Amino acid sequence: MHAKTPEESRTTMTDLVLPSETNPLNNLFGGELLARMDRAASIAARRHSRRIVVTASVNHVAFNKAVPLGSVVTVEAAVSRAFKTSMEIYIDVWVEDRESGTRSKANEAIYTFVAVDETGTPVKIPTLEPETDLEKERFAAALRRKQLSLVLAGKMKPGEATELKALFENS
Ligand SMILES: CC(C)(COP(=O)(O)OP(=O)(O)OC[C@H]1O[C@@H](n2cnc3c(N)ncnc32)[C@H](O)[C@@H]1OP(=O)(O)O)[C@@H](O)C(=O)NCCC(=O)NCCS
Repeated sequence: MHAKTPEESRTTMTDLVLPSETNPLNNLFGGELLARMDRAASIAARRHSRRIVVTASVNHVAFNKAVPLGSVVTVEAAVSRAFKTSMEIYIDVWVEDRESGTRSKANEAIYTFVAVDETGTPVKIPTLEPETDLEKERFAAALRRKQLSLVLAGKMKPGEATELKALFENS
């Protein structure tokens, strides 16, 4: 199984915000954005692993900026680190200004997907080789995010979360 780059999984989905997808303030409904991010992340995870993939957890979502009705929204997802059977997917959300066409960052999120076989059993995936500075930064921080997610899910004892402990000890 040869290593892959984040570029090989990068998935970009652009779509409008329609009236049925908004809240009473006429901004994009949070659940609709979560679904769009889940779809893009799932395609990125599939491109990396070439297997069936399932969402294991949503580790982080920041709704920093409201996205108004009629906006053109781009969701960009790529694998930020691959472990044994699980992958962290980093998702950036951009909104395009109607007049200038310039894109500004609206939100971001981090999802974990697991590659499985036809019976739902986790299977091994290729490793990831980050290339750019941003990819390397996201790769380096992914292990402590995985440990935090496992601790919160009750799947890892806090004492075993070595990367997390190091973060607190060095701050
Ligand atoms: C995700 C799933 C396959 C994990 O099964 P499991 O029995 O916990 O399997 P394992 O303990 O072997 O874990 C598999 C991998 O997932 C990771 N993982 C499991 N839960 C996790 C969590 N909450 N956060 C981060 N990683 C997690 C494990 O660390 C392991 O990673 P690694 O092999 O890369 O080290 C299983 O829980 C599942 O099928 N869930 C339902 C998925 C689904 O239907 N999603 C859609 C929601 S509607």
